[in-house]
Amino acid sequence: MIPLDLPGPRSAAALERLRGVLYPGIGEHLAPFVLDRKSGSTLVDLDGNEFVDCASASASVPLGAAREDLIEPTVAALRRFGNEDGHAISTELALDLAERLVAITPAALTRVAYALNGTEAIETAVKLMRRATGRPIVIGFLGGYHGETTITAALGAEENEISAGLRALVPGFAHVPYPNPYRSPFAPPRPGGSGDATVDYIRDHLLFHAIDPAEVAGVVIEPVLGAGGCIAPPDSFWTALVALCREHDWLLCADEVKTGLGRSGHLWAVERWGVEPDLICLGKALGGGVAPIGAVLGSERALGSFDDVPTGSTWSWLPWACAAASATLDLYRREPVLENVRALERVGAGKLAALAARHPQIGEVRAVGAFQAIELVRDRASKERDRELQDLTWAEALRRGVFTDSSSTSLNIQPSLLMDPGEFGAALDLIGEALTAAIGALGR
Ligand SMILES: Cc1ncc(COP(=O)(O)O)c(C=O)c1O
Repeated sequence: MIPLDLPGPRSAAALERLRGVLYPGIGEHLAPFVLDRKSGSTLVDLDGNEFVDCASASASVPLGAAREDLIEPTVAALRRFGNEDGHAISTELALDLAERLVAITPAALTRVAYALNGTEAIETAVKLMRRATGRPIVIGFLGGYHGETTITAALGAEENEISAGLRALVPGFAHVPYPNPYRSPFAPPRPGGSGDATVDYIRDHLLFHAIDPAEVAGVVIEPVLGAGGCIAPPDSFWTALVALCREHDWLLCADEVKTGLGRSGHLWAVERWGVEPDLICLGKALGGGVAPIGAVLGSERALGSFDDVPTGSTWSWLPWACAAASATLDLYRREPVLENVRALERVGAGKLAALAARHPQIGEVRAVGAFQAIELVRDRASKERDRELQDLTWAEALRRGVFTDSSSTSLNIQPSLLMDPGEFGAALDLIGEALTAAIGALGR
């Protein structure tokens, strides 16, 4: 195939005008094309170029774009209600959704708080955890991402944003390296310790030198690191973390904004490790790609024993967003979503492993359900990250008609949960070609 020359003329003209008026922090990061329309897993730009969507709008479009069976009930609710502030007047749509969410999350989670999106769900969860325990400190992870607002940015630490002051300098958080088997800064777990190196670090260092465990409300963690590159902690981590939380009465909050509703091959990624958190935060996929909506699910202790913490905002749980979310949950019952995700994992695991065997520039490949990543390095011994090669691979893949996500640590690949596994395999082959071209161009 002849790689596309991007942007085409209509996209170029639109991008130039956009960059003339946008805050540059948005304008400079836009893809080199402007969207004309989407359907299923296909993106079409203003110049008629087509791309296979392997980003799914940052995983917020879980089941393919602009699905009529999701749009129709959403628009019907919009026609019937317009807007209503769900904190003032409720609808049966909110009731239906709240009951369904409680029914499909782990049994201990019996309460729901409204949120407009994933960011607001995390903000809310942090407030609720502090109120439920009466303790100020929340532990987050280096490499984690939870949003861009002050609290969510302070909880996460994706790309040296805390010291740069670009995002947040907020007290009340402590950070621990995410349990990343490929880049662990720790020695193996010590004999007689927790059984896990990261949790040994929390116990032996953080809690010894810096923080009184009685001041900790709990831990917020992505069960699989999302923007940070599809990293799954080792099994030992979960066992040791749950034991630590129990010992000190900490709340465990799973940020399932990206992983939730099937992306990991389980409805909730925590199921993969048999972990039962006290809170689960949802966003992205919950709206089926047609409405903004998030939620915090929690236990009676976390969400049911007080009523004085304000949550959500005027536009959280709009009637039509609730309709979209309920229609989305219906779809999971009608279509073999989880089976397809597991097929996508098999295809990806096989193809990415073959790619890694061919290219020493690949440090590690990872596949957790329909969430997959390639981490590129200058050499395998030093593991020095090769962001330049990663960004060029992203651009070369785009020129071959595949849209992926170049994140802080890796090339992330997140197709629709219902993408045909054959189509996904073909997209991965094109990503492989793109990598070969990028390696050649940079002389790596
Ligand atoms: C794990 C995780 N948590 C929270 C958020 C914030 O969600 P949103 O930007 O949809 O509000 C994101 C967004 O990428 C995320 O990946």
